[in-house]
Formats: sequence, structure tokens, C-alpha cells
Amino acid sequence: MPPRNREGHRKCSLAVFPGSFDPITNGHLDIIGRGLSVFDQVTIAILVNPEKHPLFTVEERVDIIRETFRGEGRVKVDTFSGLLVDYAERVGASVIVRGLRAISDFEFEFQMALMNRRLNPRIETVFMMPAESYSYLSSRLVKEVFQLGGKVGDLVPAIVERRLREKYGAAPPAAVPLRRRARARRA
Ligand code: PNS
Repeated sequence: MPPRNREGHRKCSLAVFPGSFDPITNGHLDIIGRGLSVFDQVTIAILVNPEKHPLFTVEERVDIIRETFRGEGRVKVDTFSGLLVDYAERVGASVIVRGLRAISDFEFEFQMALMNRRLNPRIETVFMMPAESYSYLSSRLVKEVFQLGGKVGDLVPAIVERRLREKYGAAPPAAVPLRRRARARRA
């Protein structure tokens, strides 16, 4: 029987999908879709990390993701700082969803899941595998390929491609100022 609250209503299962999302990719979308097939609601939680130098500001990332999921009431977008488990507890989520693309992801994800469990044993981490076609996809590679003139249309939502074009300008990649490229690479 599904869990119920004190009034006897079925409890809504909420999962948090945390990350940097700089920018969100179709691989993330794939995992969110899988999350929605298991949980009632998925909150995409963007980490606010002042030490990182992202390409897109937190506000831009929130905006991009809101636009991507416009009309999908079961997906929420939020930001957080501090410990992820504290955030999950605060919003009433008992599950953290993470995508596992390849074995190379495993070690870091395993460490993080066990540390999070130690910090708060009430929060469970669930790993989901994206479609094979996204197993090589990362936000970092999308930025690099776009900057160097490669096509990313099949790898990101249309709004991300548009925003990348706005960021880097419509000029051919060779004309992108070196200083701007270095800044983007650090993100
Ligand atoms: O998309 P990313 O960069 O792989 O996401 C990493 C993220 C945001 C999930 C991770 O850095 C995180 O949870 N940071 C919050 C701080 C925290 O809780 N640290 C302890 C985790 S072991």
C-alpha cells in the first residue's frame, strides 16, 4: 500500500535531482523522465556554488530549466546551497536521484551517496541509467563542442542551443575572443 499521511491521503513521493546543470542536457532530461516514471514529483535542484565559475548564472539556469519544463506540473526547479541532504529534508524529499552514465561516474557517486547516507540516513540515493545514446554526454562537452563550432542540437533542449548562441555570439568560433573562451572553459 502506498504511504499515507495522518489524514489518510496518499503521500506524494518527491525526489530531488541535484546538480550544476550548466547547462541542462538531454541526458538530464532523460533521467528526469525516468524519475517521473517512479516518483510523483521531481525537483531539479541547482547548486549555488560561489567558488565555481559557471557559463550560465544561476538565474539563467533556472530560467532555461523552467522554460524546458513549462506545462509539466510534476517538475519543479529550485536552487540550494549548503548540504544537499539538508535541502532534501527541508523540502520533504526522501530520495535523491542521480544519473550514472558510465563506470567512471561510479566512484564519485558512490562516495557521495554513502556520505549523504551518513549525514542523513532517512534520505535514499537512487541511481538511474540514461539511454545509451547519452552515456557520453556532459554539460562540459556540450560547451566545448559548441564553442569549437560543432553541432549540439541533438544533445540539448532547443532553448539551451539558443542561449549558447547568445552567450558566445553568432560569430564563427575562431572569432570568439580568447579571454571569453578561457572563462567559459573554467565553468
Ligand atoms: O552536476 P554535478 O556538479 O555533478 O552535481 C554535484 C552536486 C551538486 C550533486 C554535489 O556537488 C552536491 O550535492 N553538492 C552539495 C554539497 C554537499 O551536500 N556536499 C556533500 C555531498 S557528499
